[in-house]
Amino acid sequence: MDAFRIIGGKKLSGSIAVRGAKNAALPILATCLLTDSPCRYRNVPLLRDIQTQVKILNTLGVETQWSGRSITTRLLDTYNSIAPYELVKTMRAGVVALGPLLAKRGECRVSLPGGCVIGERPIDLHLRGLEALGAEINVEHGDIYAKAPKGGLRGAEIYLGGTFGSSVTATANVMMAATLATGTTVIECAACEPEVVDLANCLNAMGARISGAGSPTMTIKGVRKLRGADWTVIPDRIEAATFLVLGAMTRSPITVTGARYEHMMAFCHVLRQMGVQIERKGRSMTVVPSSKRYRGTDFVTLPFPAFPTDCQAQTMALACIAEGTSVITERIYPERFMHAAELKRMGASIQVSGGQAIVQGTAHLEGTEVMASDLRASAALVNAACAAKGESLIRRIYHVDRGYERIEERLSKLGASIERVDAEG
Ligand code: EPZ
Repeated sequence: MDAFRIIGGKKLSGSIAVRGAKNAALPILATCLLTDSPCRYRNVPLLRDIQTQVKILNTLGVETQWSGRSITTRLLDTYNSIAPYELVKTMRAGVVALGPLLAKRGECRVSLPGGCVIGERPIDLHLRGLEALGAEINVEHGDIYAKAPKGGLRGAEIYLGGTFGSSVTATANVMMAATLATGTTVIECAACEPEVVDLANCLNAMGARISGAGSPTMTIKGVRKLRGADWTVIPDRIEAATFLVLGAMTRSPITVTGARYEHMMAFCHVLRQMGVQIERKGRSMTVVPSSKRYRGTDFVTLPFPAFPTDCQAQTMALACIAEGTSVITERIYPERFMHAAELKRMGASIQVSGGQAIVQGTAHLEGTEVMASDLRASAALVNAACAAKGESLIRRIYHVDRGYERIEERLSKLGASIERVDAEG
């Protein structure tokens, strides 16, 4: 099984271009199920999760063709409407096929996505929204059987809030289904993430009539049909944040190009509070290395525009080498602290209890063997290993490949000593 061997303590330099946003591309690729016309999607990151989504589309009768980071889709004449467990279990966002299939084909079977190490990952909000549009939903033997009423889905007023607030992919699923419903749908407590806005903009370019994207109240006026998509995915704000933390932790003047600052303000605010100086020039953001130690700070993960949970692990790693205490509160996934135990193996001082982590900063981390557990935790470990003294071996790095394209090649170009090796366990 692949692992990364990293020799820490190197000074990095140079610039790294941000790829397309995984969490925008995943639902946007599913928009091809809403039309009989061919679609083209550009700036799609070449990631394991994207490959899985493409395989799901292939099983649903969509022919796909890659050209660089663009992918075109064409609906075959014969297809089935079953998204199988063996694919959806490896990438829960496959559940976003549900809304489009229901709206366009009238019925479908989609496997219940599993949970993962960051939490149970329920989909009750997805089902609540689709039932509100008139769908008949049955869950049997781990599969979701969904059927639209005879005349198709009907617009509705839907409150889509859960215990933890809004849901990104539930908003995506219901919004896509509502584009072809008869009448108007209002989604209250819609997710406001930039990835949801990108999806809404793509759908509107296909002829949908969506307003309010990016606000908690979205209105979707149903249309009879949608034309093909020709869409360019927004840059990945989480990948950009990950690389800025790498620059801060290794005290290197890394320039991250192509990101949108307006998608990263809460994250940049926390980094500034910790004493990290980031210089902006157009779409480039450069870490200005500082000789002073960073300051510990407190932050809470919440839905956009607040601090994103997908940046929590990476920022915890930075807090591990800051001066003083940082209190990190995880409001989206209270169990999302698998990385804490691994960072402690590297010498960090972290106490986790009840959705909160208290980090006592230390001067530096020590390289050692650690284990990746989920996508963002593994990125945090890569950053920590690059900053640590000595050598680290990070096992199970297939987690990294789910969300970061060829990361070892890209970080090597910045001067990092990182190589992919075969290691048991
Ligand atoms: C999206 O997941 C992202 N994934 C996640 O990124 C991200 O962490 C998450 O949003 C929060 O920002 C994709 O977009 C593919 P949610 P999603 O539904 O949509 C609860 C990464 O690292 N909830 O917004 O699955 C849920 O338990 C991944 O790239 C319900 O209770 O997350 C959580 O506490 C990890 N019922 C909260 O809502 C539901 O039906 C937010 O979850 C759905 C969600």
